[in-house]
Amino acid sequence: MKTLEEAFHHTLQDIYYAETALTKALPNVAKAAGNTDFKALVLAHLAETKQQIVILDKVFASIGQKAMGVKCDAIDRLIKETDGIIKDATGIALDACLIAIAQAVEHYEIARYGALREWAKVLGHTEAHDLLSQILDMEKAANSKLTGVAVSAVNMAKKAA
Ligand SMILES: [Fe+2]
Repeated sequence: MKTLEEAFHHTLQDIYYAETALTKALPNVAKAAGNTDFKALVLAHLAETKQQIVILDKVFASIGQKAMGVKCDAIDRLIKETDGIIKDATGIALDACLIAIAQAVEHYEIARYGALREWAKVLGHTEAHDLLSQILDMEKAANSKLTGVAVSAVNMAKKAA
């Protein structure tokens, strides 16, 4: 890979792989979540993630490329860590750690979409820029909601203790 166009295409495939992997991982997180608000949020974000894949399909089409993913090691590691939390943690620690790692995923996605949409702009891919900005806004909103749930869940646990 040498050009910004190639970097854009490769990173688009990377995030496509990541979103697809998340549609498989999020149901397990929803199942493990104890806090009902968190559980609902994960399920809502699962639906949103499927929507994001449809938007990414449009991004690929807008640059005349076939939608496909390439293995993303970062998301694979984050999902592995999530599986470890589900296996090892219980009670408030389980929810607190799951919310924290969900936010790590969101931050990863925000970084990726932030770069991608700026590259799209520089490359003159106006439609891709707009579509990627839409997804970036969704990820930022999901991250804010997770912060809200984290604060309320941790506060509730503090009161109960
Ligand atoms: Fe996403």
